Amino acid sequence: MKQRRNVLAATLVAGALFITAAGAQAQSKIRIGLMLPYTGTYAALGTAIENGFRLYVQELGGTLGGREIEYFKVDDESEPSKAVDNINKLIKRDNVDVVVGTVHSGVVMAMAKVAKDTNTLLVIPNAGAEAVTGPMCAPNIFRSSFSNWQPGFAMGKVAGERGAKKVVTITWKYAAGDESVEGFKEGLKASGGEVVKDLTLPFPNVEFQALLTDIAATKPDAVYAFFAGGGAVKFVKDYAAAGLNKTIPLYGPGFLTDGTLEAQGASAQGMLTTLHYADGLDVAKDKLFRADYNKAYKATPDVYAVQGYDAAQMLAAGLAAVKGDVSKRSELVAAMEKARIDSPRGSFTLSKAHNPVQDIYLRKVVGSENRFEGVAVKELADPARGCNMK
Ligand code: BEZ
Repeated sequence: MKQRRNVLAATLVAGALFITAAGAQAQSKIRIGLMLPYTGTYAALGTAIENGFRLYVQELGGTLGGREIEYFKVDDESEPSKAVDNINKLIKRDNVDVVVGTVHSGVVMAMAKVAKDTNTLLVIPNAGAEAVTGPMCAPNIFRSSFSNWQPGFAMGKVAGERGAKKVVTITWKYAAGDESVEGFKEGLKASGGEVVKDLTLPFPNVEFQALLTDIAATKPDAVYAFFAGGGAVKFVKDYAAAGLNKTIPLYGPGFLTDGTLEAQGASAQGMLTTLHYADGLDVAKDKLFRADYNKAYKATPDVYAVQGYDAAQMLAAGLAAVKGDVSKRSELVAAMEKARIDSPRGSFTLSKAHNPVQDIYLRKVVGSENRFEGVAVKELADPARGCNMK
């Protein structure tokens, strides 16, 4: 009799625990880990991404999939050697449901390895490292931005079509710069030009003088440069201060002039770049987004803000399908995979490798705008070389 009472008591306790856990699951907040650079040359990019992400969540009343959001933040300093420790702070210490990050390609590759090993859902709101939607592609890894190849390839095509036969490239020596330059070479070759010299310096060094002297001596038809954030400001200013902008057109992926024009001022005027966002797009969603962003942050959004906003949109699509139940991973992933994202850049879908298939625009710097000039390449998909999605 006593034994039967004990069994009954244990069953009641277990039942109560189950109900409490289920209740907690239904009511608890979704834990979002933001791993972004908040210091260093890419600090402004990290802030714009976070602003964009939060703006979309605010539009849904501070929720995703019907559940409130709690944020956990780590400054990754764009430092690959600290990336594993940093992402583990979010996964192991803060027990996040999703990681959103980051900007720097070297950092993201280390993050993607940890995300794969721990099966953590990772949404990349900038870093274009080809490996993460190439050989490292996985069901739990998504990107809301671009692959380094995409804008590079488009700019190569445009440069060749504009008659650039001999081009010098210049970039920081790391995955993003290398891959951007490779994409550029592919596009340039297809339109009849070639790269005659590759110049590099370590990230995030900004001592450009010796390299500018080299460019002046080489006298190419054009220069293709990959820099972003604070480094892009300094490079474009130094290029103009050396007088090179008067004789040798400076091309680049749009990171060279996005979010930087106020600081670059006259030195950037007339520059042509290619990117998946531009000022003056005839996209209804963009008009709303810009008004809302301006109201919330008293600033004009740039491409990084758009990518943060769209990272939240992608997650929202997945979480809505499972009503916020993150444990239903395969349904969540399936919904993200088939979502059409109503982006300020123009709507896009994801490739099988989870990278946006998107128009790449040609833009021209006019005043403080990267003004839309036309579509450089329509619906460009990254080749996703080496991706074997299981
Ligand atoms: C990257 O490291 O992938 C990157 C950083 C800034 C702008 C674009 C790409």
